[in-house]
Amino acid sequence: MIRNILGIGAGYVGGPTMAVIAKHCPEISVVVADIDAERVAAWQSGAPPIYEPGLQDVVRVALGRNLRFTAQVEEAIRDAEMIFVSVNTPTKTFGQGAGRAADLQYWEKTARSILEHARGQTIVVEKSTLPVRTAEAMERILKAGRGDARFQVLSNPEFLAEGTAIADLENPDRVLIGGAETPEGQAAIEELVGIYAHWVPRERILTANVWSAELSKLAANAFLAQRVSSINAISVICEQTGANVLEVARAIGTDRRIGRDFLRAGVGFGGSCFQKDILNLVYLCEHYGLDEVARYWEMVVAMNQYQKHRFVERMIRAMFNTLADKRIAVFGFAFKADTGDIRESPAIQICRELLAEQARVCITDPKALDAARRELKDAGSRVSFEPDPYKAAQGAHAIALLTDWREYQGLDYERIYAEMEKPAFFFDGRNHLDPEKLFRIGFNVYAVGRPDLSAL
Ligand code: NAD
Ligand code: UGA
Repeated sequence: MIRNILGIGAGYVGGPTMAVIAKHCPEISVVVADIDAERVAAWQSGAPPIYEPGLQDVVRVALGRNLRFTAQVEEAIRDAEMIFVSVNTPTKTFGQGAGRAADLQYWEKTARSILEHARGQTIVVEKSTLPVRTAEAMERILKAGRGDARFQVLSNPEFLAEGTAIADLENPDRVLIGGAETPEGQAAIEELVGIYAHWVPRERILTANVWSAELSKLAANAFLAQRVSSINAISVICEQTGANVLEVARAIGTDRRIGRDFLRAGVGFGGSCFQKDILNLVYLCEHYGLDEVARYWEMVVAMNQYQKHRFVERMIRAMFNTLADKRIAVFGFAFKADTGDIRESPAIQICRELLAEQARVCITDPKALDAARRELKDAGSRVSFEPDPYKAAQGAHAIALLTDWREYQGLDYERIYAEMEKPAFFFDGRNHLDPEKLFRIGFNVYAVGRPDLSAL
């Protein structure tokens, strides 16, 4: 029986995942280690450094009981029987495979650190999303050790989505565990199954070989992103023909084979993983000489770029072909609601394109304003940041709604309209508000995948 678990990496995945394990396994000591001392201090104080609904409550249940955060990574490795690795694996920005392959430097540093400091029998669990066959590479590194430590490497990809991380971890559709098809590999799988079985029904815990588990993670994200790009591709046709993308999504989504979820047209998908993981898949295909397959998946990302760019083009066209010196209030900078995360948020590209048109951009967001400020620190004086959406819209020529925050549905748009320049424009990048209602107030309304509602 495992009694000491270590999580390396206290980010969006590592922090919530280890906290939920600690909550459900009070007899196991769970330590989470990260090289970022500031992050560690925030976790250890009970006020997590990331915003995630319900997270603080879970952390507080276990903190000080069987959950602890530390910046002493090496020391923590020494005592662990099982080590979950949840370090970041961004897209490589340099050298071979730049812009496509995963940058494995953080992951490899962790593997070397484990090799140096682990003692006895240790199970290493890949939680980070990694290229197929990485577990094998990790095993090769770990086998290079000369000490008495022995390792089993498992792949246990994480499927949580930000904003619903706690619900996803508490009640997952499935937990996937890949391991070696040897007796030792199977025994390691059983240890990990035993941990999840504290709260996940056995039939939802799937086991596989290690490469299937690694590939399933990339494939799941590729399929999800593909659905978003597919509905966004349909939204382009809708805008041209007078069809309404919401009606089309409802009509096709009622077919059980297609399903209702992930058919919301919008300004494109963001987040730290969809694009990264598809590019990673594309790189893998290219590596194996599978050019047709690579081009197929690459189009999902190309469509996403087009959707963001086309949103700005529609704004320019509607606003008499010039945005120069016009004030645009941007409602929402996070890549989706209920998170302060802005990684790959469509708002980044859209704001930069608006600024390139010499618009004056005022950004508001309930959780991501500081992150937006950091992201656009080089953007000059045309961009400003305002926590109050009413103030952001004051004197604006247009509102561009880019994140589907619930609070934007409850605003007084009569009041907002009264304080805007006229004609006032509303570009709903998420189909988040009732366009007819806005139109009745006086706005000229342009919602993704729907016909223009304009009096001009
Ligand atoms: P993140 O950047 O939020 O967190 C990674 C953490 O690892 C950081 O705090 C960093 O300081 C730490 N770290 C890096 N190198 C380290 C080292 N050598 N030792 C100790 N700590 C180290 O990243 P994330 O969003 O949590 O993603 C982690 C992995 O999980 C990625 O591979 C990602 O693809 C995958 N994933 C992410 C999500 C998500 O929703 N964010 C969901 C599923 C899977
Ligand atoms: C996604 C997956 O849903 C998770 O299963 C996966 O674990 C995670 O990536 C990961 O590997 O990091 P996440 O990126 O947090 O989770 O959020 P999603 O809810 O998937 O949304 C991604 C993007 O797609 C957001 O920008 C969202 O606004 C957009 N989206 C989603 C749409 O535009 N339309 C939709 O119908 C659904």
